[in-house]
Amino acid sequence: MVEAIARKSDTDATRNIDELYEPTVDEISRQRFVSALRKHVLVDKAAEMQESFETVVKPAMLERNQEFPKDAVEVRNAMLTNNAFRVFSALRVNAQQMTWASVMDGVERVLPQMTDLAREMAARNPAGGSVKTDSRFHVPEYVAGIDQHHVPGSFSAELGPDDVAIGAICAFGTKVFSGALPHRKDNPGAVAETVANFLKIQYPQFKPRRVLDLGTGTGKNLAPYLDAYPGIECYGIDVAGPGLRYGHAQFEARGKPLFLSQQHARKTDFPDGFFDLIVSSFFFHEVPVSITKQILKENYRLLAPGGRLAHMELPPNCEVDPYYGFYLDWDGYYNHEPDYTDYRSQVPKQLCADAGFPVKSCWHKFIPNWSTCPPDQFEKIIKGDMPALAHGNGATWFIFGAEKPA
Ligand SMILES: C[S@@+](CC[C@H](N)C(=O)[O-])C[C@H]1O[C@@H](n2cnc3c(N)ncnc32)[C@H](O)[C@@H]1O
Repeated sequence: MVEAIARKSDTDATRNIDELYEPTVDEISRQRFVSALRKHVLVDKAAEMQESFETVVKPAMLERNQEFPKDAVEVRNAMLTNNAFRVFSALRVNAQQMTWASVMDGVERVLPQMTDLAREMAARNPAGGSVKTDSRFHVPEYVAGIDQHHVPGSFSAELGPDDVAIGAICAFGTKVFSGALPHRKDNPGAVAETVANFLKIQYPQFKPRRVLDLGTGTGKNLAPYLDAYPGIECYGIDVAGPGLRYGHAQFEARGKPLFLSQQHARKTDFPDGFFDLIVSSFFFHEVPVSITKQILKENYRLLAPGGRLAHMELPPNCEVDPYYGFYLDWDGYYNHEPDYTDYRSQVPKQLCADAGFPVKSCWHKFIPNWSTCPPDQFEKIIKGDMPALAHGNGATWFIFGAEKPA
């Protein structure tokens, strides 16, 4: 009887692909340990490292008659031999690698079923979305050639036809990654939810009909726009296929239609002026700056008159103090993200202006995380009546954007 129910469920086109993943008790324990380790590193060890900088490293620099470090690079040079920094770095690299390793066995056990279900969803589209990937698509070397974030094989590794493995590993691994962090509880679409609520307060008349998410991965920071703007069409592109296939299966089962396709953001197949809103999250810091400039020009082409950009990213050096700049740049040196520091040394609103957006329409801003900030405070911070919380661990996001003339 139980077997019969299980078989029916396996062929049910509304079954959520996530439910196929059944980690063992040992795997769950391991995942909890990794989440706790990440919190220990990013909260406790990070605080110890900062204290060591303030009480040991900075005074020693001042004693040698140096001025207060003027930028992130000077702080880094001074911290390289600091023990608190070394312990923080060693633990953080290991925790990062353990994150993905902690979910891989469980995904591997059910990979054939996941692949079959994703194929079925792609053929049936019960919610009305779609997914287009192409095994001949040329994934740029800056993605395919490096294990970004230590994700094994990077986001684009394809283990076989219609593969979803890395999509699943990223979906479950990200829960381990941020599972114990303050402000980052199990809310995969937190950035999109935050940006959508920001847009509704800042531009109450703005009612986008189509949104495009660049580097969408599984679409987790695209789907929330369906609830924020009922009737909106949600499009997501990514150069990596496995996340698109996995995310499409996830959201179809939840009744959320997304139109996902494997495309390079610098040259897409959408017509001129097709979108009212273009968004992204955790995207540009992984892209070489020369390509970012081309992507923002393509954004300009894709926006309808009066359309808006709202990209979430890491804050640039010009918006943070030298110590926090050094702290953020850690990923650029140790997390396999070679374009990170170059991206962070740019001025995002200037990048938008250089791409053709009127200078006056270009902006950047810190906004609080929607789900962990009381709504009245959220609104006050957006309106400038209250200062934003410090950036870090998901308490506050940095976004930049621009508007195409109407
Ligand atoms: C860190 S992930 C972010 C995923 C997702 N936006 C999120 O909120 O978690 C960056 C994504 O950008 C994709 N990507 C990198 N360069 C791209 C490009 N030029 N065009 C489209 N996608 C790209 C990568 O394959 C990866 O899936």
